[in-house]
Amino acid sequence: MPQTIEATLIAGDGIGPEIVEATVAVLDALGAPFRWDRQVAGLEGVKLAGDPLPAATLDSIKRTRLALKGPLETPSGGGYRSSNVRLREAFKLYANLRPARTLIPGGRFENIDLVVVRENLEGLYIGHEHYIQIDDDPHAVAIASGVNTRQGCKRLLEFAFEHAIATGRKKVSIVHKANIMKALTGIFLETGLDLYERKYKGRFAIDTVIIDACAMKLVQNPWQFDVLVTTNLFGDILSDLVAGLVGGLGMTPGANIGANASIFEAVHGSAPDIAGKGVANPTALLLAAAMMLEHCRLAPEAARLRSAIDATLNLDQVRTGDLGGKHTTAEYTRALIERILRI
Ligand code: NAI
Repeated sequence: MPQTIEATLIAGDGIGPEIVEATVAVLDALGAPFRWDRQVAGLEGVKLAGDPLPAATLDSIKRTRLALKGPLETPSGGGYRSSNVRLREAFKLYANLRPARTLIPGGRFENIDLVVVRENLEGLYIGHEHYIQIDDDPHAVAIASGVNTRQGCKRLLEFAFEHAIATGRKKVSIVHKANIMKALTGIFLETGLDLYERKYKGRFAIDTVIIDACAMKLVQNPWQFDVLVTTNLFGDILSDLVAGLVGGLGMTPGANIGANASIFEAVHGSAPDIAGKGVANPTALLLAAAMMLEHCRLAPEAARLRSAIDATLNLDQVRTGDLGGKHTTAEYTRALIERILRI
């Protein structure tokens, strides 16, 4: 194991500090070699540094190129721009990797093991939107532009294909809507098929599926899929759908991978309704930490963490309220650390 790995730590808002502290304690128990540079962002950034994404936080990630992040609050409608979106742009975090795996048997869907790879920077999320006024209605017409580039599609598809090979996946499904948005999502489909033919043919199976049919198929028979790769908006929606197949947001991690940094986080938000009550489920962030360990070539530590989570949830039956349990964040964390020390 390397002696130390410098990483930026952002506790975030709402339940962020509770789940981040739980995750740091678990990583310490694992002996993970992270040296944390603690920084602030989101609402906490505004309170402490007058900025939802302070320069010190950006400088820290520039230096470490690696961060573990709690959820950041973004005001709806007015207010400041999402610090998450700014982080993605600042560090060109073009790939959003969201695995969803069944951890607790007995739910509506058993044995789910899927990965959604979402393009994180382009498409309809670039924010080129405006209204046109007609007569006295300032919002008579709404217009949004999407932009997908050959280069942006290619680097994301390449990332997804390499990830499929590295993790022994059998099939990649390119999800699109090229029958209607012929240019905007046609370029993604065309680039994916071309890249497969030229560089990846035979190394895994390829499949193409239209987004609406994909949503239905995921609910009817999710086991037919393995890796789903898609553009920004479709990926955003599908990754939450897939989270729903494995017990909800408390169980799903996300990694934002880019040319200049990698940022690991839970998929869920700051859960203001339960903040400060000590009942939040830290599993999603713990699984994000497992992805971070793998990213840092610490696969044995990641495997130890995953099997300790499995044992705590299923053998010890220690679970937080969102999973139907009665345990607090602190009790779950203690039980998990005991398991880690025994594995
Ligand atoms: P949310 O994900 O924070 O909460 C939705 C529901 O799930 C709530 O009932 C909450 O209590 C529950 N929940 C979420 N995580 C949980 C956990 N770990 N354990 C137990 N229950 C959990 O979504 P919401 O309320 O729409 O967003 C709140 C804030 O979070 C907003 O300001 C939003 O912008 C921000 N947000 C930030 C994200 C990020 O930083 N990556 C992602 C999504 C939302």
